Amino acid sequence: MKIVFATNNAHKLAEVQAVLGDAYELVTPRMCGVEEEIPENQPTLEGNASEKSHYLRARTGLDCFADDTGLEVEALDGAPGVHSALCLRRSRLRGQQPPAAAQLEGEANRRARFRTVISLLVGDEEHLFEGVVEGRIVERESGAEGFGYDPLFVPDGCDRTFAEMSPDEKNAVSHRGRAVRKLAAFLRARGEK
Ligand code: IMP
Repeated sequence: MKIVFATNNAHKLAEVQAVLGDAYELVTPRMCGVEEEIPENQPTLEGNASEKSHYLRARTGLDCFADDTGLEVEALDGAPGVHSALCLRRSRLRGQQPPAAAQLEGEANRRARFRTVISLLVGDEEHLFEGVVEGRIVERESGAEGFGYDPLFVPDGCDRTFAEMSPDEKNAVSHRGRAVRKLAAFLRARGEK
C-alpha cells in the first residue's frame, strides 16, 4: 500500500519505513510534486501534525500522514517543545551549541523527553498517535548517527545518546518508533477489516 508521509527529511523517512516494513511504500511530498515547504504554524505538536497532513491531502488528494516532534526539557518548563526546529536552526546559524544544551549549563536537573505526534488522514477520518521517550540531556554532544538533537539525548535505561545508536536501536525505544508502531497497528487492523 502506498501512503504519503509529509517529510523530505531522509533520516525520518528511513526510520519510519523501517518500522512500517515492506507492506507500506512511503511516498514523499516531492514525489507528488509538492516542492514548497509544508506550513507548520500551530502552537502545539498536535496542531502542526494535523496542519501538515491536511495541507498534503488538499494538494494531493491521497491518504497521508504527518508527524511533529518536540524536545521537552523539564528545567525549561517544556521548552523548546513545539519550537524545537526553530531553536535548533537559530543556534546553528549563530554557530552556537543547541539550545537545550546551552540553557542547561550549571543545571542539575537534566530530565527531558521527546514527544512525537502523528496525524493520519485516511478517507475522511483523522487519527492521532503519540509516542514519548523519557531521558536526559548530556553535557557534550556525542555520536554521528541520526539527526537534530540526537547527539544530546540519552534515553532512560541506556548509556548512549541516540546519535551513538544504530537506526534499529533508536527505533526500538524512540518517540517516533513508538508513535509509528501505533500507526502501523492501526493500519494493519484497518486493512484486515
Ligand atoms: P520536526 O518534527 O521535523 O518539526 O522536528 C522538530 C525539531 O526536532 C527539528 O529540529 C528536528 O531536527 C528535531 N527532531 C525531530 N525528530 C528528532 C529525533 O528523532 N531526534 C532528534 N531530533 C529530532
